[in-house]
Amino acid sequence: MTFIQNLEWRHATKKFDGKKVPDEMVEKILDSVRMAPTSFGLQPFHVTVVTSDELKATLQAHAYNQEQVTTCSHFLVFSADTNLAKRADEYLTMAGMKHDGGEVSGLEKVIKEFITEVDAEWAAKQAYIALGFAMAACAELQIDSCPMEGFDPEEFKKALGLPENLNPKVALPIGYRTADYVAVPKIRFSKEDLFDSK
Ligand SMILES: Cc1cc2nc3c(=O)[nH]c(=O)nc-3n(C[C@H](O)[C@H](O)[C@H](O)COP(=O)(O)O)c2cc1C
Repeated sequence: MTFIQNLEWRHATKKFDGKKVPDEMVEKILDSVRMAPTSFGLQPFHVTVVTSDELKATLQAHAYNQEQVTTCSHFLVFSADTNLAKRADEYLTMAGMKHDGGEVSGLEKVIKEFITEVDAEWAAKQAYIALGFAMAACAELQIDSCPMEGFDPEEFKKALGLPENLNPKVALPIGYRTADYVAVPKIRFSKEDLFDSK
């Protein structure tokens, strides 16, 4: 299948059959998240992979009771990391660009100034790009998924025991659609509506 055929095949799966996605496939999906581009490469997000049935049931209660949460194989929660100063330090150290008492590098200056200017949703935007990569990876692997914003972020944060700096933004249950699943037809605005050229 081509990339576009995979995207036509995928759809927001509302109910999974409970079958487990093999570990090596989950690894590939997580690799796609890890390889997704982010602004300055800071990857200001964290993904919690939930497999516990008990925890899934708790999360479902805070997600409008959506069946995807408990019927999926793995439930991925993408949280934005609001501690950007720490993230920037970690990144610069990892990249070997952190000043060690000597002169601050040009990039360090730029990043540190940049993160003071971004809005509260900047980290979440990076997480959404990674979400897109994960959905595309799932489609290539013929694994079903459903992007989800329909949940109470504060309750998710509590249930997952996340630290203060991590705020759940979007989730992605993955698994396999049920045998009798009827996918709703794709509804998309026309190319004329979405694009123009100048
Ligand atoms: C950011 C985002 C949040 C969404 N939240 C939910 C959700 O909470 N529950 C749900 O069933 N679908 C959710 N959807 C799925 C959309 O309704 C779905 O992607 C859209 O209708 C297009 O259908 P398709 O993905 O099957 O092509 C969400 C999609 C996105 C991208």
